[in-house]
Amino acid sequence: MNFLRLNITLGLLIFATWSTVAQNPLTIPPALTGTNFNLTIQSGTTTFYSGYNTPTYGINGVWMAPTLIINKGDSVTFNVTNNLPVNTTIHWHGLHLPSKWDGGPHQIITPTSTWSPRFKVMNDAATYWYHPHGDMKTELHVTKGIAGMIIVKDVAEAALTLPRTYGVDDFPIIVQSKAFDVLKQLAIATEDDSTIMVNGTMYPYLNAPAQVIRMRLLNGSTMRTYLFGFSGNIPFKLIGTDDGLLDTATTLTRIRLSPGERAEILVNLTGMQSQTVYLKNYGAELPNGIHGAAIVATGAAAIQDYNLNPLNGGNYNILQLNVVAQTSSPVTTTPTTLIAQTPINPATAQKVRRILLEPQPPVDSSKMTEGPFLMNGKSFDMTVINDTVKLGQTEIWELINKTLIAHPFHIHDVFFNVLNINVNPPSLSDRGKKDVVLVMPGDTLRFISKFEDFADPVVPFMYHCHLLHHEDEGMMGSFVVIDSTTSIKGYANMNISVNIYPNPAHDELHVEGLNKNTTIQLYDVFGREVYKAQSIQDKTTISLANLVAGNYVLQLTDANGERTVIKINKE
Ligand code: C2O
Ligand code: CU
Ligand code: CU
Repeated sequence: MNFLRLNITLGLLIFATWSTVAQNPLTIPPALTGTNFNLTIQSGTTTFYSGYNTPTYGINGVWMAPTLIINKGDSVTFNVTNNLPVNTTIHWHGLHLPSKWDGGPHQIITPTSTWSPRFKVMNDAATYWYHPHGDMKTELHVTKGIAGMIIVKDVAEAALTLPRTYGVDDFPIIVQSKAFDVLKQLAIATEDDSTIMVNGTMYPYLNAPAQVIRMRLLNGSTMRTYLFGFSGNIPFKLIGTDDGLLDTATTLTRIRLSPGERAEILVNLTGMQSQTVYLKNYGAELPNGIHGAAIVATGAAAIQDYNLNPLNGGNYNILQLNVVAQTSSPVTTTPTTLIAQTPINPATAQKVRRILLEPQPPVDSSKMTEGPFLMNGKSFDMTVINDTVKLGQTEIWELINKTLIAHPFHIHDVFFNVLNINVNPPSLSDRGKKDVVLVMPGDTLRFISKFEDFADPVVPFMYHCHLLHHEDEGMMGSFVVIDSTTSIKGYANMNISVNIYPNPAHDELHVEGLNKNTTIQLYDVFGREVYKAQSIQDKTTISLANLVAGNYVLQLTDANGERTVIKINKE
């Protein structure tokens, strides 16, 4: 990572004067509700420092994005128009939906085009988010401002006595650290992320009523982990993690969130009118190895210039809360019992899948902390499917961190329950339904998940490190969920024995034993049809000469609509 030494000095100055600079009212992103959402990705400029226009991106605006409030059970449509001059994607982080609507690197939205995913909301009430996920472009596009919150509501949550009036007693809190270069441009690939923003606001304050408030904390930073708490060590209640509310509310004074993670907390400000409270980061308490702690690693493995950033290992204010008068119907007590949980039973697991988080060889010590990093020895490749999961299968994933830095592991499609970390049960804040979990250096973390509802032999889901710089550098893998029963049934019902060779193939693929009028289609990993023909004889030869190497799916559909799919590899 390169580094701008001049700017860190400025960062230090700003950091030191936090309490004296003018405070800005916290922006509460506008909320969009309903089932049909028009989202326009735009570019423009935003003034963060007087005299400087900073180029930024946003959705329905030029900086940050609206909050999407959706209901479990609703069928929703998003019309996402890309008015940027470059390709991008929009990923619905945490939502369980078909892979073709997931918005990963394969669902490219080209300039001026509109992408319209539509799906049924199946997730439980919780806090999710959306952000770009372009191949090697996630860090840049998130840094430039595209990140928004998704709030899912459901009947179980609605039955609880909880604050839920958006922007009144229920607040989105998207915490991000940003780097500005000398020209006040937002910078990536630097250790100089010394500016903290909440919902895109620098030095924010929020007028919060003297009652129970709900804060939906989202760490939307590219690299930094926070250990949140309040000034005076005011206790708060953790009520929900990434993908749902917990069974019981837990009283805490700290909660650690790595990039991508969310937590819903309740803070009781009853009786505190006219006091000032700070949401703080207690970075000095973070253990070594976490990006955000005072030290990641020492000696040759130390990250260059890491120690010059005052936010690393610092205790500092994130958001000032000015406690104001109560609203008309305040919530003043906090519930203890929330939503009954039935964690996935480890005895039902049908497979253990191991993912190694490791440095890219040849390994010198700086690569143990700075990367690039691999997953199972591989760097992300758009044309490769790394793992195949059977639809309906319950799996234990075993994450082994062989590097010297902690990585927040994130999986698309499903939520998981953390089973254990080495021999220990998960911490209080890693309980419940999760989709991101921080794996500490040297640790083996096991989680359990069930891959239900959505199979697609062609279009993959992602799993990756949510440190966006690591993700962009290739610390990501892909998996498809295959409905083997359907394809086997389809194959059998075709009442033919199709012979496909060679596989892997080079320039030609031979298909023999076809019924008449079988539709032959070949798809690439983007889900694009690259070949289509109708069989006239019982055999055909497909030319692959013009196709790039990688995985393809051959789909055969006979005259009765019976279908079979076969994975083809072109070398
Ligand atoms: Cu929040 Cu795959 O990302
Ligand atoms: Cu995601
Ligand atoms: Cu990582």
